[in-house]
Amino acid sequence: MQKKVAFFKEAIKSIKTSGAFIPSSRFLVKKILMDIDFSTSEVIVEYGPGNGTITKEILKKLKPSAILICFEINETFLLDLRKIENKQLIVLNASAENVKEEIEKLGFTKVDNFISSLPLAILPKELSKLIVEESYTVLQQNGRFVQYQYSTQFLKQFKAIFSKKIGLKFEPLNLPPALIYICKK
Ligand SMILES: C[S@@+](CC[C@H](N)C(=O)[O-])C[C@H]1O[C@@H](n2cnc3c(N)ncnc32)[C@H](O)[C@@H]1O
Repeated sequence: MQKKVAFFKEAIKSIKTSGAFIPSSRFLVKKILMDIDFSTSEVIVEYGPGNGTITKEILKKLKPSAILICFEINETFLLDLRKIENKQLIVLNASAENVKEEIEKLGFTKVDNFISSLPLAILPKELSKLIVEESYTVLQQNGRFVQYQYSTQFLKQFKAIFSKKIGLKFEPLNLPPALIYICKK
């Protein structure tokens, strides 16, 4: 409960980039992670981890050789994320559109799967488009870009980048109820 209150306070302060008032529910987290094949993933990127609600669940599923690279821009959430002690976790104070250069600095050229909580529908249009385009460039063939949203507003842009390979799921047990886009390269 304490963590939810802390998230709420921070989200209110930065609503234009946080896009939600409370962290994702456990039902939503479970559904988001269901479509990722952790048995074959070596490099996973999470965008917008916030205070780590999804991050902690991803870490439980990683195979021992895999790593999780998180991109977060909120200073308060970064402090929370850096408290998570796990050798498979890399927390970057970096914005998602810089994914290519940031993973290259770490010695990687490709990402097996993306898990994103970015509020794409409320970020500046050009920025959201750039983030998804750059992610597509570094995504492995057959890799997935899994994103939750509260509307279908971004579907057209996903279709433009991922063509027709888009699955859609709904999770009612979240505040607000959420849609999950599963975009495949
Ligand atoms: C809705 S919150 C998600 C929190 C958490 N993942 C969850 O599902 O409960 C969105 C997060 O995206 C982060 N964010 C917004 N724009 C970003 C960007 N350009 N790059 C990286 N993170 C960003 C915000 O700071 C915020 O933590």
